[in-house]
Amino acid sequence: MNLPIDFSTLAIALPPASPQFINLYDESSTGQQPSVARELSDGLLVAAASLSPKFLYNELGSRLFEAITQLDEYYPTRTEAAIFEASSPQIAQTLTSVGIRNACLIDLGAGNCAKASKLIPHLQPRQYVPVDISVDFLRSAANQVQNTFPALDIVGLGMDFSSGLVLPQEIQGQDRVFFYPGSSLGNFHPHEALEFLKHIADPAQGKARGLLLGIDLVKDTATLEAAYDDALGVTASFNKNMLLNVNDIIGSDFDVRQWQHIGLFNVEKSRIEMHLQAAQDLTVTWHGQTRAFRAGERIHTECSYKYTLESMTAMLQQAGFRHIEHWTDPKGWFAVFWAAV
Ligand code: AVI
Repeated sequence: MNLPIDFSTLAIALPPASPQFINLYDESSTGQQPSVARELSDGLLVAAASLSPKFLYNELGSRLFEAITQLDEYYPTRTEAAIFEASSPQIAQTLTSVGIRNACLIDLGAGNCAKASKLIPHLQPRQYVPVDISVDFLRSAANQVQNTFPALDIVGLGMDFSSGLVLPQEIQGQDRVFFYPGSSLGNFHPHEALEFLKHIADPAQGKARGLLLGIDLVKDTATLEAAYDDALGVTASFNKNMLLNVNDIIGSDFDVRQWQHIGLFNVEKSRIEMHLQAAQDLTVTWHGQTRAFRAGERIHTECSYKYTLESMTAMLQQAGFRHIEHWTDPKGWFAVFWAAV
């Protein structure tokens, strides 16, 4: 007996579309990339040792950073989120007023994509491009965004944009809006930040219509230092994990128990500095190289520059942006800038 089928009652469980993923940064092969190994060796062998903050972000580092953002002391993430919560409709309105609708939203240093996920319903982008150096972490984050927005065109991009931002052809060239939240621009030295902004603003390079930028502002030293040296020691672990990452990449024998975390505000340079300080005289070896550290000697691992509304406006103007607007929180701790090209 053939029963008539009522199609309206059939629920068809289609799997959500998966995002495209383009990996221009192969984490597993960084150890074999002579340039990366040389960069690390050079940084360790100079008298005032320093390592790029990009080496903070292996898989565990990205997770530790996520934990940092949930700490009471680390105010930037929640303060920025509150600004977006209060001002996203106005931000969307600002973009619309300069003729940007359904932009291609390029999320620099996307991490877990949480910030963009809140912005997407307001901006309604045509394409979403999360970019990050932590490839596996990004891949699963992009999948989650796709589950939340099944119809959205998503192209995940694994790349190290600290050394240049050349986007592949899969990324739409029209109405590009760069989204650079979280004060990550503060991790560049000011001259590098300016170059980076110039690159985005240059019509021949970034092809941007504009930039949405989150930046941390100067405030009292106690608040700043607590944010980078929390009571639970999560930031200390985040910093020390860089040594484990370096061990993985160049086969060095750093012992994290021999290092102490330092997070201090350098008022003159308007920047937080993170260092790792040798707790005792020690020696590190890798591939035939040796570096001796005396007790108290440091490796500089990160700078996090803090701006004022005026200094950031001036930098954006110098980079070639026009029509600059900003939104801030009631305490004036953090700012979100819109800068149109
Ligand atoms: C990713 N970046 C903006 C963070 C910052 O605040 O500079 C990294 C960080 N370093 C220590 N805590 C957080």
